[in-house]
Amino acid sequence: MKLEITALRKSYRQGQEKLTILNNLNMQVDTSEVVAVVGASGSGKSTFLSLVAGLDKFDEGDISVNGHSIKNLTTAEMTNFRAQNMAFVFQQFHLVPHLTAFENIALPLEILNRPFTETEITAALTAVGLSHRGHHKPGELSGGECQRLALARGLITKPSLLLADEPSGNLDTETGQRVMNLFFEQVRATKTTTVLVTHDRELAARCDRIFTLKNGRFE
Ligand SMILES: Nc1ncnc2c1ncn2[C@@H]1O[C@H](COP(=O)(O)OP(=O)(O)OP(=O)(O)O)[C@@H](O)[C@H]1O
Ligand SMILES: [Mg+2]
Repeated sequence: MKLEITALRKSYRQGQEKLTILNNLNMQVDTSEVVAVVGASGSGKSTFLSLVAGLDKFDEGDISVNGHSIKNLTTAEMTNFRAQNMAFVFQQFHLVPHLTAFENIALPLEILNRPFTETEITAALTAVGLSHRGHHKPGELSGGECQRLALARGLITKPSLLLADEPSGNLDTETGQRVMNLFFEQVRATKTTTVLVTHDRELAARCDRIFTLKNGRFE
């Protein structure tokens, strides 16, 4: 999968004022590449990811995934496109609290009406070191375990594009490091094209390329 972003502009309206966050921003990510987006707090990293995910509209420019522009998709088309092609790992895990770890991983496949086997889900749990926690609900898991579960859930659909926003941001340093080791191991093993937002320079250095967001564009 290829991600291509051209001359992207995004502004927010603040009363009478227009606040331009992204301005003439360009990016190209190749298949299986893992790239980092870094930048100061408030520089627009999360805004950028929400545009790529089609969760928010941009003013100008274009975003194309696998050669398909997302600009003119309806909300329903975008929702479907996102479910088929993208996955997310965020600082807040966004797991479904009343479902078990096993069920949380199976959920995206059920939503997409894709057939799956118990073996497949168990393998995904095992890949993130949670084979012994399949029956636990998120509230019965540690922060690191929740994040590993979110990663397994993201990758189960074999997404073309994985978007991650500070995935270790809520974890203590040691847990964060272990989760991120697993994160890199998994995205590399599955050759998943990945955009990782982080302000951790060490994590960024483990990516293939680093994009630094400053004054609305990548330096
Ligand atoms: N809905 C909104 N309306 C107005 N301004 C917004 C909105 N969302 C974000 N902003 C502004 O846009 C700027 C970029 O926000 P964004 O969340 O993308 O930054 P960030 O780089 O992800 O920061 P952090 O590292 O702290 O997560 C901020 O100055 C923020 O105040
Ligand atoms: Mg952010």
